[in-house]
Formats: sequence, structure tokens, C-alpha cells
Amino acid sequence: MKKEQKIVHGFSKKSRDEKLNIVTEKHTNAANALSLFKSFHHSDSKMQSLLEEFSENTISNFPLPFCICPNMLINDKAYMVPMVIEESSVVAAAANSAKFWFTKGGFKTKIIDTEKIGQVHFLWKDDITILQQRFAELKERLIKDCFDITENMVKRGGGIINIELKDLSDKEPHLMQLYATFETIDSMGANFINSCLEQFAATFKQWQSSQKECTKDGLEIIMCILSNYTPNCRVKCYVETTLDQLDNIVPGMNGKEFARRFRLGVRVAELDPHRATTHNKGIMNGIDAVVLATGNDFRAVEACSHTFAAHTGKYTSLSHVDIEENAFRFTVEVPFALGVVGGLTTLHPLVKLSLELLENPSATELMSIAVATGLANNFSAVKNLVTVGIQQGHMKMHLLNILKQLKVPESRKEEVIEHFKDKVVSVSAVRNLAERWSLIETTN
Ligand code: MEV
Repeated sequence: MKKEQKIVHGFSKKSRDEKLNIVTEKHTNAANALSLFKSFHHSDSKMQSLLEEFSENTISNFPLPFCICPNMLINDKAYMVPMVIEESSVVAAAANSAKFWFTKGGFKTKIIDTEKIGQVHFLWKDDITILQQRFAELKERLIKDCFDITENMVKRGGGIINIELKDLSDKEPHLMQLYATFETIDSMGANFINSCLEQFAATFKQWQSSQKECTKDGLEIIMCILSNYTPNCRVKCYVETTLDQLDNIVPGMNGKEFARRFRLGVRVAELDPHRATTHNKGIMNGIDAVVLATGNDFRAVEACSHTFAAHTGKYTSLSHVDIEENAFRFTVEVPFALGVVGGLTTLHPLVKLSLELLENPSATELMSIAVATGLANNFSAVKNLVTVGIQQGHMKMHLLNILKQLKVPESRKEEVIEHFKDKVVSVSAVRNLAERWSLIETTN
């Protein structure tokens, strides 16, 4: 018989400890679960309260490694880049690449633009020519009525850039949109944009009802929301060197051969969406880690970059290689919106510290840092893939994790690492060896 499922009422109104009890009481080892959750509470109760305020229904904290990628030379400035990420090989890969490019001019970036986008989606059931012909007048009013919201942003050099009318009624009866562009300077701008859009909708309704040819139900607002796809908030980043500088990047391989194979590795990602997805994931490894460490919205960054990767109608690589005579250039171009003010930037102490470590960059400088870290990761990944294979680097970190998981004594780890230098790493292979060498208790 199907077990009756009960709805939980008023969970959010309970205290944190009441929530903890409700969640853990049905666990097979309730006391253990409760104490594990509690063990992750911050020892400073003020800090714990602060962390709990970031989200609804918080019962504990979920720590992720806070790592540093040293030697990131970006536009001639050396950074220690904070990266928050759980995947074991990502920071090592970025650091490797950063060190390699440090002596070859480092990463160069160019901000293409910083324009953000928001839309008011609506149905227009009256005569469309009324709206089209009077749009200039409406637009002026939309901008004017937002003055209270935009005043400070305008003082900082930002605000509403433009509002266009788009007609989608050939795809869905009466469907149209106000397509607005914004400059939000150092903030990601989500709240600012959404507030402007909601004000647009209110003004638009008033305006429509004041047009004598318009009908009572002629305008139906569907929704007002920013778009996380910001193709014109975009940054380009590249590294370049001569082919001979690539000699022995992998022992025994000359630079020309390495560059040829590297280009092919990237070419596959340009041509095949399956490979492109993994290739771009490798870029996002670096970008997301910086985005997380600086308290930015990694879901927005992910959504934006993948939409851009498909903007030609076919999902493809975000990075590209050019080899001309003796010159090798590796470039990535990707849009995303970051902020260095507002949001978590002053609230979360580690986010604040990340930004301080980066010497409080502007939003565009942070875009450069994030994209360069993405390219660093992408370079390492493709380099390994087309030469020694991915497992060699990955497996070293994987092996360390397995050793920890099996509780192999610290003093004996080196011997195991040495043993697996030229062997395939798997949990069972490591366990078998550790048991054979009596480093751990046998399982059966
Ligand atoms: C793993 O997190 C990322 C890679 O798969 C990226 C790639 O294949 O290019 C190594």
C-alpha cells in the first residue's frame, strides 16, 4: 500500500533547532545526523546567524574548499585568484597554466561591452499602430517615471540605455515586448533592472488607459524580468606565444607538434556539440570558481555562457586557436554579468575578503579575472587531453582522495603514490594494495 505523504505546514516559521529536529528525527541514525549538522555550525553565533540569513530554512552550513590560484598575470598585473570549488583537479590545472603563461606575457583581456538586458512581456490586443506610432512618447514617459530608481545609477554613470518595442505576434497572437538595455556599472544589476521593468509596466498600463482609442483589456502584462542572456556584456581573453616557446611543454614534444594537436583538440569542440559541452565545462570550471568566491550568481553566468555558445544556432566551443606561421594564440570570448557591489559582496565575510585579495576590482576587472581563469583551466585540460590524457593529472588528485577515504596512514601515502605512478587508479585497486601492504584493515 502506498504510504500517505503528509504536507509540512509552517516549516519556515520554526526555529533553526526545531527545523533540525524535524529533518533529522526520521533519519535511521537521528542522533548522529543531528550532531553532524550541528558540527558544521559556526563557533561564533553572530557569524552563524549571518550565514543563516542568506537563505530560507537554513539548518547548517555546507563548506566548500576556498582555494588560491597564484601567478595569474592578467593585463600585466599579477593576481592570487580566489577559487571556490569542490572538484579536486581544477585549481591545480589553473595554477599550472597560470605559471606557464606568466613567463609568456600572461593573459590579455578586452571588455567588448557591459550592456545588460530586461524585458516586459505583454499582450497588445488594441490596434498595434497606436503603440508603434506613439512609442517615442511612451518611451520618454517610461524613462521619466523611473527617475527615483535610476537617479543614483545615473550619478555613477549608468542607467537605462534604450527601450525598444518588439513584435512577436506572428509567433503568438498579440505577443509583444519592451526590450530594454541598461548599464549597471559595478553591480550585477538584477534588482535595479527588475525594479525598472516593474515601473515600466505600471507606467505602460497608465499610458494605455489614457489613450482614448485603447480598450479596457487591450493591454495584458505577462511578466517583467531581466534576461540572464547578456551577449553584449562580454569579455574576450587570449594568451599568445611563439611555437618554439611551446617546446617541451610536455616532455619530449616539440612546440609545433603540440600546437598542431592542441588546435585539433579545440577544432573538435568547434565542430561537435558533445565535445563542445565538455570543453566549455572545462572553461566554466575556472569561471564558476571565481564567480562563487566573489559571491556572484554562477547559475546566471552558466546560463548566459551556454546560450552564447549556441548563438549561431549550433552549440560550439567558446574558445578558439589560431596558428599563423610561428605564432600560437588561444582565445576565449564569453558574456556574463558580474557585480562587485550589492548582493553578497559586503555581507559575506569571505566574499568581501576575496574582493579585497583582488584589491577591490571593478566589475569589468573581475570579468577579466574570471575569464582568464576559465582560459587557464581550458588550456590545461586540452593540453592534457591531446598529450598525456586526462587521467594522469586527474588521477593524482583522485588517488589522494581515495587514500584519505580509505584512511591510509599519512606516513605511507608516498609509497602508494609512487606505486600508482604508472598504473591505473581505481578505488578497488588502491584498496587491494593497501590491504596487501597492511596499510588498512581487510574488508573481508
Ligand atoms: C573536468 O572537470 C573538465 C574537463 O573534462 C574539460 C575538458 O574535457 O576539456 C577535463
